[in-house]
Amino acid sequence: MSVRTALTDIQLPQSKSIRLRFVEESDADFILSLRLDSKYNKYLSPVSRDIDKQKEWIRAYKKLESDGSEYYFIIERHDGIRCGTVRMYDFKDNSFSWGSWILNEDKPRTAALETALLIYKAGFEILGFDRSHFEVNRNNTRVISFHSRLGAEKVSEDNENFYFIFTSETYQKCSGEFHYLLEK
Ligand SMILES: CC(C)(COP(=O)(O)OP(=O)(O)OC[C@H]1O[C@@H](n2cnc3c(N)ncnc32)[C@H](O)[C@@H]1OP(=O)(O)O)[C@@H](O)C(=O)NCCC(=O)NCCS
Repeated sequence: MSVRTALTDIQLPQSKSIRLRFVEESDADFILSLRLDSKYNKYLSPVSRDIDKQKEWIRAYKKLESDGSEYYFIIERHDGIRCGTVRMYDFKDNSFSWGSWILNEDKPRTAALETALLIYKAGFEILGFDRSHFEVNRNNTRVISFHSRLGAEKVSEDNENFYFIFTSETYQKCSGEFHYLLEK
């Protein structure tokens, strides 16, 4: 579904120490290096080691991006060093999901908070959604605690995941509290 403004039509938001940019085919090796690293991939879906498959997948993603139905971002520091990935998808019922979130050891200290703030800024302020829905593996305690601390509400669970909602009202509060991180 194509909704509201397309993120491809605007300058993507930036924060104090990172920025988001759209994935490119030339990021295939970087993405594979993260997704195949056991430090990061424990709670993410497995990917093939085949670089050509990864490039093909990115090409397909560029189509979703131009439709405005999903976005895959590379997280970069302001000096251009890539330090992670994050994705927005499943736009429905005035809500969006986000995930495929990884930050590597090149991340600035506040990159995790800045990523969440940038994704919520894009989803709420730019795309105009009312809320965000996402799941976290129930054993991924660090990430569960991250989302709970920021104000996400756990709405259900199953054997595998906890399911969260984060509202635009909560984003308003967070963007006030962390305004200094949203300023470049
Ligand atoms: C998910 C991921 C990107 C989060 O990044 P992270 O840097 O580990 O995030 P953290 O929870 O450590 O938060 C970073 C810092 O922000 C701080 N922070 C987090 N939430 C905060 C809040 N609401 N207020 C103030 N500080 C906060 C943390 O205390 C931490 O500070 P510290 O480094 O001084 O301890 C990273 O852990 C990762 O790549 N994990 C592997 C892949 C994965 O599981 N992805 C999620 C799938 S759902």
